[in-house]
Amino acid sequence: MGLFFCVKTFGCQMNKHDSERVAGMLEALGALPVNDIEAADVVVYMTCCVREAADTRLYGQVASMKNIPLRPGTPLGKRIVAVGGCIGQRDGEKLLAALPHLDVVFGTHNLGALPRLLREAVGSGERAAEVLDASSGFSSDLPTDREHAWAAWLPITIGCNNFCTYCIVPYVRGREKSRPLEDIVAEAQRYVDAGVKEITLLGQNVNSYGRDLYGQPRFAAVLDAVAATGVKRLRFATSHPKDLTDEVIDRFGSLEALMPALHLPVQAGSDAVLAAMNRRYTAAHYRGLVEKLRRVCPNIALSTDVIVGFPGETEKDFLDTYRLIEEIGYHQVFTFIYSKREGTPAASLPANATREEIQDRFERLEKLVQDSAWKANQAEAGATVEVLVEGVSKRDPRLLSGKSPKNQTVHAPLPEDCSIEQLQGRFVDVKVDEARTWYLSGTVVDGSLHG
Ligand code: SAH
Ligand code: SF4
Ligand code: F3S
Repeated sequence: MGLFFCVKTFGCQMNKHDSERVAGMLEALGALPVNDIEAADVVVYMTCCVREAADTRLYGQVASMKNIPLRPGTPLGKRIVAVGGCIGQRDGEKLLAALPHLDVVFGTHNLGALPRLLREAVGSGERAAEVLDASSGFSSDLPTDREHAWAAWLPITIGCNNFCTYCIVPYVRGREKSRPLEDIVAEAQRYVDAGVKEITLLGQNVNSYGRDLYGQPRFAAVLDAVAATGVKRLRFATSHPKDLTDEVIDRFGSLEALMPALHLPVQAGSDAVLAAMNRRYTAAHYRGLVEKLRRVCPNIALSTDVIVGFPGETEKDFLDTYRLIEEIGYHQVFTFIYSKREGTPAASLPANATREEIQDRFERLEKLVQDSAWKANQAEAGATVEVLVEGVSKRDPRLLSGKSPKNQTVHAPLPEDCSIEQLQGRFVDVKVDEARTWYLSGTVVDGSLHG
């Protein structure tokens, strides 16, 4: 009798990557993945607690599980529910007490324990929470079920040492640990040999890679070594501006595989707020980095994260942020309203703006972000871009959807003689007819299919 599982993922790419490992482990046990909870015998939530909203949603969703009917014919007689990821790590046993329908809790440091915990829950009906304080290293030997055959996320560091005062991540992911360079290169080479076209190197701050192993940041060496595997497209996330070195910036000019796109979270444009956030750079330093990046790679697409309403943020501070965002001309800006996280230093700082003021700042910024995205995309209007095809557009199955080197979403009608299966994971050139705020649309250049 088949067993079906469903993994629901929240939060950052670290979690998405961990979810691929969870799926890989469950498939190795003979279970099959499904998208809907209704059709699943085992449901695993991979949770995020970086903001309060994600927290509230998780508790609500697990609590309402009791209303979802069991899958007809389920061999288990009940639905097994597991919570992992960052809320699992932070709350452990408390989750079992708060959520009677929950069977298993695991953390960010013991992903590999999940099959055993599930087996115990199925076998004896025992509920269990197992969370470790720190990781022993990388769980790189776990099987992985990647979302796309042609793209891979490759963690090079786990954890974070930066302790930005608003952020919970260092508490739920632990201290920064780098993975040995040989392991990274070996995994990248395996992917390339298996036909992977795009690799994204992952870490909370990839720029400090190697400090715990070799005593200095040497992320540039990782870029060189992974590019040498022959991968077509190389990306990385995330970069802390205080650790982005000239060597890494230079790679945007010298490594052909390194795509002209960089996510460089600024968080704020006011030095007072940056200092209160413990970001350890100034707005001027950040502007200097952007200048250098554009000198090396004039068409680089920049994206960023911004927090609005950090404790103590004044209207003047906000305007400094607004002007910085306006001036840089980002392709994409992820805007967040500050959300208090218990246990972080900022949680004890008094707020000095009202909810309405913060909401108003947020809305002004959102408008700017849309204008800026639209403007940035105009550089591609009328141009031809190389697109790595991912699938069909969600809104229209007659359109292919893929990514440009700058990571823009591109839509184009499927060429008549091609099925999407023939195109997926390969490259086509698209002549862009129209550049919109969130995507480019165009037509596939005849005979351009390659890779
Ligand atoms: N390590 C990455 C991102 C971590 S979390 C980095 O440093 O860039 C992703 C984003 O969530 C952060 O960049 C920040 O903008 C936002 N964020 C983190 N904690 C937050 C909080 N308490 N309230 C609001 N936004 C937050
Ligand atoms: Fe959080 Fe700062 Fe670390 Fe990013 S660098 S994960 S924002 S503490
Ligand atoms: Fe969220 Fe954990 Fe990532 S808190 S942002 S899923 S490291």
